[in-house]
Amino acid sequence: MKPLKLTLAGAAALLTAGAAHAQELNLICSADVVICELLVEQFEAGHDIDVNMVRLSSGEAYAKIRAEGRNPQTDLWWGGTGDPHLQAASDGLTMEYQSPMLEELHEWATRQAELSGYRTVGVYSGALGWGYNTEIFESKGITPPTCWADLLDPSLAGEIQIADPNSSGTAYTTLATLVQLMGEDEAFAFLADMDANVSQYTKSGSAPVKAAARGETGLGIVFMHDAVAQAEEGFPVEVVAPCEGTGYEIGSMSLIEGAQNETEAKTFYDWVLGADVQSMMPEAGSFQIPSNASATPPEAAPNLDDIKLIDYDFAQYGDSERRAGLLARWDEEIGGK
Ligand code: F6P
Repeated sequence: MKPLKLTLAGAAALLTAGAAHAQELNLICSADVVICELLVEQFEAGHDIDVNMVRLSSGEAYAKIRAEGRNPQTDLWWGGTGDPHLQAASDGLTMEYQSPMLEELHEWATRQAELSGYRTVGVYSGALGWGYNTEIFESKGITPPTCWADLLDPSLAGEIQIADPNSSGTAYTTLATLVQLMGEDEAFAFLADMDANVSQYTKSGSAPVKAAARGETGLGIVFMHDAVAQAEEGFPVEVVAPCEGTGYEIGSMSLIEGAQNETEAKTFYDWVLGADVQSMMPEAGSFQIPSNASATPPEAAPNLDDIKLIDYDFAQYGDSERRAGLLARWDEEIGGK
């Protein structure tokens, strides 16, 4: 076999090629995997940066970032509900950054940034509710619930799915919403009663309505935009905003403190706040309200002005101790039973 001869020019070319691929970004994406993949594809098409993306639910993402601690493997966390992002900010796990794009955002998105000392920022928002399978309800003769209180009706035995609030930001938002609507003890009593109707606590927040769409369960408690996504795909799903009022999320984004690829992370951060990028979300079946005021909100997005929203206390429910306390109580009284 001929020995491999490497000329100086060849070695230089190899080195240059190596350098060209050296830029990397380690991203956790906590929204639906289809939008996560579209964002990565579009970003890579316009930048010389390779993105290693992992999709994790909001609570799982927080736990991973916390576990990585002072040796972060993650550079950027995009999407997922705001509460665990705020918790990460108050734990000092995320980095202060004031993007030049902040001035293009809605006030609710920059308020999230101010609240966290600029360690997180709003990227989209959406209200909580549920989606039910109209065919299942009709065939079983069940009256569709329109209020939280209706979810306790015995006709719904085994028909409800909701996620586990430890892994899922959606389910934590539900827990925090019920606490704000009813008071803490009453909310836990409500959840204990509703448990009789729950067939499964899933890991991901949108899984319950995907299961309802496919006829595996009757109803999923989810963000309304995730129910809309199933209806838009043609499934027999009706979307409900609970009559007593409901909570909402400010889906967020945070740079990780000590990120190994800080420059690349900032490049993605600024890019993903752009109006054009946010206007792409419906293409991936994501129907949240975008945080860039010039982005086009999806036509099918539930109109937040038509929904009775509570004045969700992000500071309190994104507080590290408060979130940990509510989750511990949920484990003791609901999940771990
Ligand atoms: O599917 C999209 C979405 O509902 C986002 O709007 C939200 O931030 C995220 O999923 C929450 O996912 P999970 O409940 O799995 O943390």
